[in-house]
Amino acid sequence: MSDDAFHDLGRYYDALMSEINYDRWVVVGSYLRDLTGRPDPAHLDIACGTGRFLHAVLQQGWNSIGIDLSASMLRSAVVGPYPATVAAADMTALPFEERFDFVTCLFDSLNFVIELDAVRRAMREAYRVLRPGGIFYFDTITERMITEHFADRTWREKHGKMRAEWQGFWVPDTGMADLRIRINRGPYSLIRERIYSDAAIRGALVDAGFEVIGYLDAENWNAPAYQTLRIDWIAVKPPMQSPLAQFAAIEESVQRILQQ
Ligand SMILES: C[S@@+](CC[C@H](N)C(=O)[O-])C[C@H]1O[C@@H](n2cnc3c(N)ncnc32)[C@H](O)[C@@H]1O
Repeated sequence: MSDDAFHDLGRYYDALMSEINYDRWVVVGSYLRDLTGRPDPAHLDIACGTGRFLHAVLQQGWNSIGIDLSASMLRSAVVGPYPATVAAADMTALPFEERFDFVTCLFDSLNFVIELDAVRRAMREAYRVLRPGGIFYFDTITERMITEHFADRTWREKHGKMRAEWQGFWVPDTGMADLRIRINRGPYSLIRERIYSDAAIRGALVDAGFEVIGYLDAENWNAPAYQTLRIDWIAVKPPMQSPLAQFAAIEESVQRILQQ
């Protein structure tokens, strides 16, 4: 298991990310969960972190559990009005058999896996734990996300009484994007992500056995373009339970919602 980069950040994470809108993931996730065609689909949230997505979907009655590498992040996932069932685990070696209908891995968690071989293992693991017809929904960030928002910048934020200092570094040759984050006067945490080409991600999915049915700009569900910051990927472990036409209808509904 690799090191826990979120060890010192876990207790501050929800405050740091308070402005992130998880509703979009819940809306899209709800449509895709229906697409599994199963009653009460068994859902696994890979890299669930502090459980914000899990808490929102548990509130809606989903049959969900989560895993994350960071015990520090998971501490928040198991408390609150909708405490989640979670386990500390690495997405490249999931502690489950084939038992899920819907697997998610959101907020660019896959970019935190910094070797392509490990990404490919994570895809194989997602495939292995899904039942036939199961759906895998995840997102990745693009190089443009890094160059527009993080590369070679230092900035400060205030969240109530908490002060956060951020330093972003970008190494285009390796695709490595580092963020150093310091809360108040505490230690710096190093959060490292890697930007993968879309071809590498698609290849890993296909080699794992998935059929890729969705490759979309996460902001509007149009085809990804130069300005795309985040990509939504939707893949099925064959055979797909619902006709592809149903996914096309979902695409239209999600586009309408996102583009409002
Ligand atoms: C940006 S956070 C996103 C957390 C959560 N998905 C959310 O939306 O708030 C990335 C998460 O990926 C987890 N992570 C990184 N590498 C992992 C791995 N190999 N296996 C499982 N979790 C991992 C980190 O511990 C962290 O909680």
